[in-house]
Amino acid sequence: MVNQEFNPVSSNVIWHHPTITRARREAQNGHCGAIIWFTGLSGSGKSTIAHAVEEALHQLGCRTFVMDGDNVRHGLCSDLGFSLKDRQENIRRIGEMAKLFMEAGVIVLTAFISPYHRDRERVRGLVEEDGFMEIYCAASLEVCESRDAKGIYKKARAGDILEFTGISAPYEVPENPELTIKTGTDELGTCVEQVVGRIIQCGIISSKNLGRENRKKI
Ligand code: ADX
Repeated sequence: MVNQEFNPVSSNVIWHHPTITRARREAQNGHCGAIIWFTGLSGSGKSTIAHAVEEALHQLGCRTFVMDGDNVRHGLCSDLGFSLKDRQENIRRIGEMAKLFMEAGVIVLTAFISPYHRDRERVRGLVEEDGFMEIYCAASLEVCESRDAKGIYKKARAGDILEFTGISAPYEVPENPELTIKTGTDELGTCVEQVVGRIIQCGIISSKNLGRENRKKI
């Protein structure tokens, strides 16, 4: 699908179709490629859940990869800040990167605040409908701020960090996510079970994966 808003600058680029297709990779892996997109406030538990879900899927023999906001901003997106425009570009790049991983047959788990509905929907539009699962990590600002593992809410309240999501920049709650998990109140294990359950329900993982001897670990 061509993204109308982000057409390439050069007109002399021609798409080359691979012979090893996504379908062939998926057949070899025994599961579908997919993007599991976690969104929520800083401190809502996106990275923790993404890594715990990855652990469960890995034990089921799935090929997985976690893309994390703070990490990506050290490399691929190290030139971007937190203005609306920079966040849009951050999510655009990550969306494209996640799509490549998905086409490689991997279950990608992304952990970005991704505060804007439009940016998340743009990523959804990049991939086929069934390849994108938006998961809202619902935790109140109060809970996230009380956790403040990185000490950034304190800095944001003091005015040392500008345009901080939830305080001085908006967070648009997903209108129709595939799943909402209550990361502010529920135990980690409960949230992981819900996510893995939804991944199974959607058919991203096949009975081949569930038939493995370590099935009981999820
Ligand atoms: S996003 O809005 O563009 O999706 P991203 O997930 O990449 O954000 O990065 C968020 C992380 O950057 C936060 O967890 C926090 O550690 C850090 N951060 C630094 N400045 C800000 C800010 N102004 N707003 C939100 N997060 C910030």
